[in-house]
Parts: sequence; structure tokens; C-alpha cells
Amino acid sequence: MSRATHLHSLSTSLDAALRPSRWDEYVGQTQVKANVRIAIDAAKKRGSMPEHILFYGPPGVGKTTLAYLVAATLESPLKSTSGVAIERAGDLAAILTNLEPNTVLFIDEIHRLSRKIEELLYPALESGHLDLILGKGPSARTVELALPPFTLVGATTRVADLSGPLRSRFGGGVFQLDFYSDDDLKDIIRRSAGLLNLSAPKEVIDRIAARSRATPRVANALLKRVRDFSEVHERALSATLCDEACELFGIDVFGLTKDDRRYLHTFLTSFRGGPTGVRALAAALHEDSDTIEYIYEPYLLRLGFIERSPRGRILTHKGREYLDGKSSLF
Ligand SMILES: Nc1ncnc2c1ncn2[C@@H]1O[C@H](COP(=O)(O)OP(=O)(O)O)[C@@H](O)[C@H]1O
Ligand SMILES: [Mg+2]
Repeated sequence: MSRATHLHSLSTSLDAALRPSRWDEYVGQTQVKANVRIAIDAAKKRGSMPEHILFYGPPGVGKTTLAYLVAATLESPLKSTSGVAIERAGDLAAILTNLEPNTVLFIDEIHRLSRKIEELLYPALESGHLDLILGKGPSARTVELALPPFTLVGATTRVADLSGPLRSRFGGGVFQLDFYSDDDLKDIIRRSAGLLNLSAPKEVIDRIAARSRATPRVANALLKRVRDFSEVHERALSATLCDEACELFGIDVFGLTKDDRRYLHTFLTSFRGGPTGVRALAAALHEDSDTIEYIYEPYLLRLGFIERSPRGRILTHKGREYLDGKSSLF
């Protein structure tokens, strides 16, 4: 199973169980929260729906959760779909024309919408109507269909893939969600431990936070795996237990897994640390370049183990040091 599929399937139900349902439970991202809440409160005061909003950032940092919070705050129904699911004009028309008035329409992975669908979406976003073409050939005609009021909340891991015109339609704001600080992760893990009825000592929280790739979803998934490990071994959560569990999972003190180590190792041995392009790396690793670019690299960049330069990726001094310390693993 690829890393992307794995990260996803591991935690869809866990996401739902641990997803914050109130703003005060949504840790960190202070500025994004403040801005979004102003857009919502202003709209509520006017008795209208806020303008469309876009969230972007790496997987697992709270984009979907924010969409749910926006809908909850507006006391609006939420209709959730994804850019992959909307293939044909008819798919979009069916969704839009069936919206209850004042719905929050959440389109996940919105960069996957085709240009044709994007263009159909523009008038819907701008003036609340849909231009439908009825019939074919010389007798075809366009009808303008008025839509119920709605707010689109888009989410994407790849904001650069969004067309300029689509991006400019998010008048309510385009917000980047960052990786989380250690303190924020600890807050999230503490809350999740509470919800899972776990008594987790400080050392355990600290360790899980450090190994969570600065990502809430990873933190929750790791907490749950450590919990499973402790239940199977009938041992209480402790620092030692946590270390043993992580060793078994192949997760090191940086939160890196065997896939990351393979990436770094291949970078060094096959490309002498670069500069090299993402396609060449992907080919050497038998992965697709999107997985490399959007799943592996963001956190390695954050750790400073690799860098992007105009001539390609570079394995940094820090990255080489890491590999030196880890050479026994290969
Ligand atoms: N700011 C946050 N505070 C608390 N938990 C969070 C936060 N962001 C994400 N999470 C947790 O991580 C899980 C994944 O978040 P999600 O919104 O699905 O991420 P994304 O849509 O960006 O991939 C959520 O179910 C939630 O449990
Ligand atoms: Mg999501």
C-alpha cells in the first residue's frame, strides 16, 4: 500500500471520532481561525452567507475539520464532495441545483476539478446561477438557472494546481494551514487521549508529539497505535513502551518511516545528494512524483533534510548527518 493510501485508510474513522466540533477544541492556526470567524460573524450579522473560502496545506492539518466548523457556526447544512467525484457537468449541476438554501458546499481536493467543470462553477460562485446548455447542435440553447444561496469551502493539498480564475473567486479568503508546533501537537494528543479514555503520562505525550510529523492526523493515528500496542501487551503507557512500539512500527525519533529513509538513502546513493528533479527521484523509488512531492517531501523540507533549489532538490548537510546516524538501518 502506498504511503498516501495508508495514511488515509488508517484514520478515516479515527478522524471522525476525534474531530473537534467546537472552535475552542481546534488547536493552533490562530490567525486562520480569527480570519475565518470574522468572515462568518460578519455574514451572520448581515443575515447572508459568507463568501467562498479556500483552505490549503499538507494532508492531515485540519482543512476538513475547518469546513465542518464553518458549517456548524453558520448552523448550515454541509454537503461534502470532492474534485474527483465531480467528473461531468451533470454531476456539478445535480449537486448545485439540489442544495438546500444556505448550505456549506465542501469540495475536497478541489484542484482535481477539470477546467470544464471549473468554468461551469464560475458563474455559480459569482452570481449564483448555472449556465446549462440544453440540446445539441444548431438547436442547442443556454438556460440560466438560479441557484440557492451557498458558500463553497474548498480544500486542497496543491494550491499551485488551481487556476488563477478559480482562486480569485474565493472572496472570503484563501488560507494556508501550516504544520503544527510541538506545543499545539501536545494539546491535541492530550485531548485525544482524554476522548479515548487513556491515561497518558507527559513523557508519552512528548514522544508521540515529536514523532508526529507536525501533523494532527498523524499524532492521533500514532496515539491509537501505541494504545493498541499497550493493550495487546497488557502494559500501561510509558516512555519505554512508547519507544518499543515506535521501533516496531519503524517510526524513528524524527517521525520518519522506512519510506522516508528509503527516499533519503536513494537520494544519497543514486543521486549523490542532488541537485536532482522530482521525476528522477520518483522513477528511482518506483513512486509517482505526486506522492514524492506532496507526501514525502513537505516534512523532509520542514526538517531541513532536503532543500528545493532552482536546479532541483538537494540533500542537505543535516540530511546527510541523519543518514550517517542511521546507516545501520540499511
Ligand atoms: N487544529 C486541530 N485541533 C485538533 N485536532 C485537529 C486539528 N486539526 C486536525 N485535527 C485532527 O486531525 C484529524 C485530521 O484533520 P482533517 O481536518 O481531516 O485534515 P485535512 O482535511 O487537512 O487532511 C481530525 O480528525 C482531527 O482529529
Ligand atoms: Mg481532509
